[in-house]
Amino acid sequence: MEPDLFHQESPKEYKKAIVVGASSGMGKELVKILVKRGYNVGITGRREHLLKELKEGYPGRIFYKAFDIRDLSKTTRSIRDLIKSLEGLDLLVLSSGVGFLNEELDTEPEFQTIYTNVTAFTDIMTFTFRYFLKHPPGHLVGLTSIAALRGNKSAPAYNASKAYQSNYLEGLRQKSKKQKLKITVTDIRPGFVATDMAKGEKLFWAASPEKAAKQIYSAIRRKKGIAYISKRWGLFALLLKIAPRWMYDHF
Ligand SMILES: NC(=O)c1ccc[n+]([C@@H]2O[C@H](COP(=O)([O-])OP(=O)(O)OC[C@H]3O[C@@H](n4cnc5c(N)ncnc54)[C@H](OP(=O)(O)O)[C@@H]3O)[C@@H](O)[C@H]2O)c1
Repeated sequence: MEPDLFHQESPKEYKKAIVVGASSGMGKELVKILVKRGYNVGITGRREHLLKELKEGYPGRIFYKAFDIRDLSKTTRSIRDLIKSLEGLDLLVLSSGVGFLNEELDTEPEFQTIYTNVTAFTDIMTFTFRYFLKHPPGHLVGLTSIAALRGNKSAPAYNASKAYQSNYLEGLRQKSKKQKLKITVTDIRPGFVATDMAKGEKLFWAASPEKAAKQIYSAIRRKKGIAYISKRWGLFALLLKIAPRWMYDHF
């Protein structure tokens, strides 16, 4: 029988996690599972009232900091404050991200995607990897996307930014393995998940955020390198990878 990964635990000592981008969607659902599984959790996002609401559901188990990850003067300082409140860190999950359908190729949405998904992502990943170097072991998790695998005519910056994230995480994973560091790096690649972020009319195989979060937690627990969410998207990924360019260009 499959063990129940999600039953309530009362550990002697709580593990410590931060979820960046926990005010809604997959990040928020993952926080609920992490608390049940014996983590104290630091949560972030810009919408402070949503962070406060989540914290109030789990008295004493959640700390929050509201900030915009594009403001580099605040981000690492706020994460450091959360680590202090948690008295250490075992796991950081970066769920914050934006994406825009941008058929007109306006500059602003493209740049906003780069500031959030590339610049801020790099700021958080480098800071946390260096933290785990000094305080091993640690587990670094990024929510990238199946979009990392190919370009997209309607959201060029989004797919390009997700390819950057996946490659960046692969670099960190290789660095950790080569140098025998005690740092695990997991690339979570969701397909469609029914959150505010999922845009467009052609959604299919859309998982609920709750189901997605369960599978993300399972991938974290198993220390997977890459995980497709939901699992069936692994099949789609295979097709995306082998589709020849002449075929993909007409898709
Ligand atoms: N839903 C999908 O179909 C899908 C598919 C593939 C990949 N993903 C990826 O999964 C991740 C989570 O998305 P989701 O689907 O759960 O959508 P979501 O509900 O929109 O969650 C996005 C989170 O990112 C935070 N965020 C966005 N911009 C931010 C900023 N500048 N500063 C701080 N926080 C910011 C949001 O918080 P605030 O608004 O409060 O700041 C929110 O908590 C994203 O990286 C997304 O690219 C989603």
